[in-house]
Amino acid sequence: MALKFMTADEAASLIKHNVNVGISGFTPAGCPKDVPVALAKRAEAEHSKGNPFKIGMFTGASTDDYTDGFLTRAGAIKFRTPYQTNNDMRKAINNEEFSYFDLHLSTLAQDLRYGFFGNVDVAIIEACAVSESGEIVPTCGVGIMPTIAKMANTVIVELNQWHPKELTGMHDLCEPLPPPNRKAYNIEKVSDRIGNEFVKVDPSKIVVVKCNVPNEGTDFAPVDDITTQIGQNVANFLIDEIRAGRMPKSFLPVQSGVGNIANAVLAAMGESKDIPDFEIYTEVIQDAVIALMENRRIKFASGCALTVSNQCIENVYNNLNFFKEKLLLRPSEISNSPEIIRKLGLISINTALEADIFGNINSTHVMGSKMMNGIGGSGDFTRSAYLSIFVTPSVAKGGKISAFVPMVSHHDHNEHSVKVLVSEHGIADLRGKSPRERANCIIDNCAHPEFRPLLKEYLKRGAKGQTPVDLYNAFAFHKAFLETGDMRNSKINVGC
Ligand code: COA
Repeated sequence: MALKFMTADEAASLIKHNVNVGISGFTPAGCPKDVPVALAKRAEAEHSKGNPFKIGMFTGASTDDYTDGFLTRAGAIKFRTPYQTNNDMRKAINNEEFSYFDLHLSTLAQDLRYGFFGNVDVAIIEACAVSESGEIVPTCGVGIMPTIAKMANTVIVELNQWHPKELTGMHDLCEPLPPPNRKAYNIEKVSDRIGNEFVKVDPSKIVVVKCNVPNEGTDFAPVDDITTQIGQNVANFLIDEIRAGRMPKSFLPVQSGVGNIANAVLAAMGESKDIPDFEIYTEVIQDAVIALMENRRIKFASGCALTVSNQCIENVYNNLNFFKEKLLLRPSEISNSPEIIRKLGLISINTALEADIFGNINSTHVMGSKMMNGIGGSGDFTRSAYLSIFVTPSVAKGGKISAFVPMVSHHDHNEHSVKVLVSEHGIADLRGKSPRERANCIIDNCAHPEFRPLLKEYLKRGAKGQTPVDLYNAFAFHKAFLETGDMRNSKINVGC
């Protein structure tokens, strides 16, 4: 059957007010570009005529400015899930301009199939290849692509010729059966394949929009002394684990989170002669992974997206024969599957916004109320990993904010799942420690020296019991920041 071709504007006109739209990709990798921009223009045109025009949006994770930025600024969103990182979208969420729902990334595709969030009416999918029989090959990010392609009544394929069609073969695409008939994922090694190279849908629901637009790309801040030291501390901790016999000699697959610190940690691990060549089982594959693959330090990487700079992805595309043997891109429900994470025995390394002295982690909310990005896959990995590590610089905003506080202002990961905390000052190994022991360990090893006396004072006033919490002063640090702009002004003196 011949495929239908359209312009981006024509494809956008198929999307009506109030429908739910699924978007392919994960981070800027694999997201459509021309159609979301055309859709934003369409929303603005409808608004200028006095007509309502808003859509619900399901994405793999964050997207890029073409999607989250343009649609937010056009006031075209009524609902959005899950993770996001766009500045305009973050502001709109915190202004309560639309409803935003944050959840573990591994669960979104199945929750859509369960019908928890209504229909997926339209899918917009960036592809490097599409066939007349309805076989669609995504580009460098997958996300929830298989599920939205199957569920949607209309599938708009943005055939982006910036991505080579020879990417075909780098993907491992499938969906699990629904409970109670779900089968185990047959992944025993990072490189095991369980799915197809494409997703096949009824070709009569496909329309194709051709384009040639580069990825938004991802730039990393240069590593500084703090991120380098954090990376070194993580590497040293892992070396000690190998020496203590708590890690198989062959090492374990690594998951590393998003951002500069994660990149620096991987670079430090790669440089360490005492860490054997290793594998990656993660959601986001960043620049450091590709560099370490070229140096043969990383043997294989399975992820959901190549979230790299454009210079890095061009290098991958120019050397596809080399990288296709070492990279697999899978849907987020497989890259982040707790079953596989537990089975492979992952070392998970994620970044905290703040941690409390008992080991609870806030990854998502600034001062308890303002959404930063979302939980992403950090919960999927932390809860099921062999070793769950959180990293953070000890202070933020020039020392005015302590990353280590009496009580986190929002809970994403709790003390039962977090095994190790690392800052530039050192390592807090929380395994087997009581809450009071954990608190002393975190304060002595990870907190900034300027905040240690305040944290010790808080701990001294903690109630007698299993967890020495002082409810009167639990948010003294946050209160001081809200009132004076500096947590160093905290007063631990309320109550009896
Ligand atoms: N309170 C307020 N602001 C804080 C803060 C705190 N405790 N800690 C950090 N910040 C600010 C920083 O100052 C910085 O602000 P700026 O952009 O204005 O300079 C910003 O938050 C980001 O901090 P940064 O140190 O650059 O961290 P990052 O880019 O590594 O991101 C997270 C950290 C936690 C936001 C990010 O890792 C995240 O979104 N995590 C959740 C999802 C996740 O872990 N995914 C991976 C799973 S595979």
